[in-house]
Amino acid sequence: MFGAGRLIVAIAFFVCGVSYARVRGPCSNCHTMHNYQNGELVSPSGPRSYLLKDSCAGCHTNPNGGETIVTIGVTRIPIVNNGVEPLQSLAGGNFYWVKVGGDRKGHNCLSIPGISSDQTLTQAPGKPSSASGPSCANCHDQISGCESCHDPKHHADDSGPVVGESGGWYRYLNSSEHGSSTTGVKGIEDDDWEYTVSATDHNEYNGCYNPYGNEDNSMSNYCAGCHQQFHGLSYTDTDGNVIYDGQSPWFRHPTHLPLPNDPSKEYYYYNNPGGTGPGSYNPLVPVARDPTALSSMTGPSATVTPGSDQVMCLSCHRAHASPYDHLLRWDYKGWPQNGQSNGCLVCHTAKN
Ligand code: HEC
Ligand code: HEC
Ligand code: HEC
Ligand code: HEC
Ligand code: HEC
Ligand code: HEC
Ligand code: HEC
Repeated sequence: MFGAGRLIVAIAFFVCGVSYARVRGPCSNCHTMHNYQNGELVSPSGPRSYLLKDSCAGCHTNPNGGETIVTIGVTRIPIVNNGVEPLQSLAGGNFYWVKVGGDRKGHNCLSIPGISSDQTLTQAPGKPSSASGPSCANCHDQISGCESCHDPKHHADDSGPVVGESGGWYRYLNSSEHGSSTTGVKGIEDDDWEYTVSATDHNEYNGCYNPYGNEDNSMSNYCAGCHQQFHGLSYTDTDGNVIYDGQSPWFRHPTHLPLPNDPSKEYYYYNNPGGTGPGSYNPLVPVARDPTALSSMTGPSATVTPGSDQVMCLSCHRAHASPYDHLLRWDYKGWPQNGQSNGCLVCHTAKN
């Protein structure tokens, strides 16, 4: 039987003037009114929230194939977890790599069958010290599910070009627990989630205006909401050692700062070693845009501008998982024996 909340949603289907701009296709592709269709139970474990036919992980999984966009009529489902090696991972990477490669390859998202708790990390490295209560653990000590990170808004109109609060935020990125208008992420959403990708065909990420803050709708400060101590003025590592620097906003690699606008420095020749100026945007090593610059962009751009475009967490990491340790975007440890490109050198052009 319906619980009260479900009944309210069911009524809302018929009476609300909600605009259903984003997800496409018949309601019945995704929802089931009574968990019963053509004489069979749709979800054997009982009705789900929002009367959905499947769970987050269930809908976004392709159990048998390597394809990462699955099409049902006009509905295209972006896949974040494949049962076999993905043919072409989307921008966030693919949880397949945690299942076959182990804990180091990604976030251990526990709602995915075949993924269990990280055996080494008992909390997010650098987690904010206040997030220590039992009600915080499902997101700050472990990733219990997709909603540890996403606040889903499948029916928001994210036609853009820059997607912010009214579009449900860039890729629904805000805390479903305590997100606010200042914590959601802004960006330009590539229409096939970077299935096809080039210098002119990619996502655009919002950069920071406050390298020390958390609340500026930037991609880096979103990650740093959970990995906060990575850019405070002191950091207690997982062994309890307090590392204090007192002046620099980073403990590891600089993030949240623009590529120096200085032709005497290697970074000025981003993706163009030996050239006379910056090369074009390389989607393997993305930079975030200055917030003012992003707000007036009408689509993805191939231009990289030192002094404005910034190093961010996703310059080096994938969000979900990757074939490499620490969710890195390229095989940093295996270089140069692996013969692959090393993304560090896209910025550190003099080290090639
Ligand atoms: C491609 C899949 C898909 C299709 C098609 C779809 N929905 Fe949804 N819907 C979802 C998902 C996933 C949610 C979960 C919560 C969220 O993201 O808002 C949802 C949530 C909802 C909600 C509750 C939240 C809200 O935004 O009000 C309502 C009501 C709803 N859907 C109605 C409909 C109706 C009516 C149709 C057909 C016109 C429809 N949906 C078609 C996937 C779909
Ligand atoms: C019934 C199938 C279905 C379910 C269940 C479902 N999704 Fe989706 N989801 C979709 C489809 C289809 C899209 C693609 C919408 C589009 O074209 O932008 C999508 C898109 C997304 C996106 C990318 C948004 C973007 O900007 O492209 C995220 C993130 C996401 N879903 C997360 C979730 C989470 C978290 C849940 C669980 C609450 C969930 N989904 C449940 C079908 C589903
Ligand atoms: C909701 C909180 C949360 C958010 C948001 C979050 N993380 Fe994490 N992260 C965790 C937790 C918990 C762990 C440790 C357990 C695990 O790996 O699943 C972790 C682990 C990691 C690790 C170490 C993985 C390993 O096993 O070595 C990296 C790297 C990382 N996160 C990067 C990121 C990046 C980049 C982002 C932004 C796209 C991000 N995280 C966003 C909670 C979060
Ligand atoms: C459902 C998942 C979830 C739960 C539960 C949760 N958080 Fe978070 N938290 C997040 C995410 C995602 C972020 C990063 C995005 C952001 O900053 O909002 C975050 C960021 C934070 C930050 C960084 C500062 C900020 O607001 O940006 C603090 C502090 C924090 N959480 C404290 C807590 C505390 C304390 C609890 C328990 C009472 C808690 N969280 C429970 C998901 C969660
Ligand atoms: C650690 C936080 C985190 C967790 C856990 C997480 N996501 Fe994501 N997800 C992100 C971020 C960040 C992006 C944006 C990646 C980008 O644009 O580079 C993203 C992107 C996506 C997209 C768009 C496709 C893509 O690859 O860019 C979909 C769909 C999605 N997530 C669904 C899910 C589902 C379903 C789950 C659970 C099985 C999940 N996510 C778990 C942070 C997370
Ligand atoms: C320039 C590349 C680069 C950038 C930018 C970057 N990282 Fe990393 N990160 C790495 C590398 C490489 C490692 C592997 C460990 C090492 O070499 O220190 C790592 C490791 C980590 C770990 C695992 C730490 C542990 O104790 O296991 C986390 C968590 C993490 N990064 C989060 C972030 C967050 C959050 C941001 C943005 C605020 C970020 N990183 C920006 C390259 C980067
Ligand atoms: C998106 C561009 C970018 C990428 C990718 C990148 N770096 Fe950097 N790196 C920078 C910038 C910018 C600085 C700081 C320049 C300055 O202000 O002098 C820096 C500084 C450094 C420093 C000096 C840190 C210090 O405190 O002085 C080291 C070491 C370094 N990077 C190593 C790496 C490694 C290893 C990788 C690959 C895992 C990497 N970088 C990837 C842009 C990048």
